[in-house]
Amino acid sequence: MTTNQINAMSAAGCILADTFACISEHIKEGVTAGYIDQLAKTYIISQGADPGFLGYRGYKYSTCISKNEEIVHGIPYDHKVFFDGDIVSIDIGVKRDGFYADAARTFLIGNVSEEDRHLVQVTQDAFFKSMEGIRAGSRLGDISFGIQQYVESKGLTIVKDLYSHGIGSSLHEEPLIPNYGKKGAGMLLKSGMTFAIEPMVNLGLPGIETLDDEWTIVTEDGKKSAHYENTILITDDGVDILTLKGA
Ligand code: MF3
Ligand code: CO
Repeated sequence: MTTNQINAMSAAGCILADTFACISEHIKEGVTAGYIDQLAKTYIISQGADPGFLGYRGYKYSTCISKNEEIVHGIPYDHKVFFDGDIVSIDIGVKRDGFYADAARTFLIGNVSEEDRHLVQVTQDAFFKSMEGIRAGSRLGDISFGIQQYVESKGLTIVKDLYSHGIGSSLHEEPLIPNYGKKGAGMLLKSGMTFAIEPMVNLGLPGIETLDDEWTIVTEDGKKSAHYENTILITDDGVDILTLKGA
């Protein structure tokens, strides 16, 4: 990518990080997914950017909001209410000057069980563990391996049928990146490459199922799942996490 393209993606990433900062205080018991979706949309547009998911393959919303046994691509319905003890994944895309950023966080609503808090923490930590030592010259499999190794060492299950992905002038680009794999395997990473790395982690079995709304993906066994995602840029001496914090 050129410097201009990287600048556009960084700007999209900053706006996305700020969007999470803006909505996070509103994410609590009694609030609806539809309300949070509107807040995120309004904020993104106020920053001179576009919601990256809106209109993507006919999708009508700016966020995906997935509760509990919903893994990803949950629809932010007005009737999807956050209750005490829920875990809620909020996934957002931002498009700025033709380039995308994509990120997700899983939030805790009220008093969440120890087991579910562990699930959410391990999912987030898996992302950061997988970034350790990654730089130009690493292999894509080093990231995949890092995620799998950490998650499984904590007794949890990686979702194998959903992937991390390339990102840039499209929301989803080649390659598809499994969140499991072998160290030293796969594509050679070069400075300027950008990826959306998104571990999805289950408490129970890895199986998934798509609901009749044709978007929402849930665990087959009905047990809970967590999700964490950032857009990253490979550099000569490491990784820039573009969606982590505001400018
Ligand atoms: N972050 C989601 C993913 O990478 C993006 C979903 S886009 C949507 O799969 F439009 F389908 F919501
Ligand atoms: Co993504």
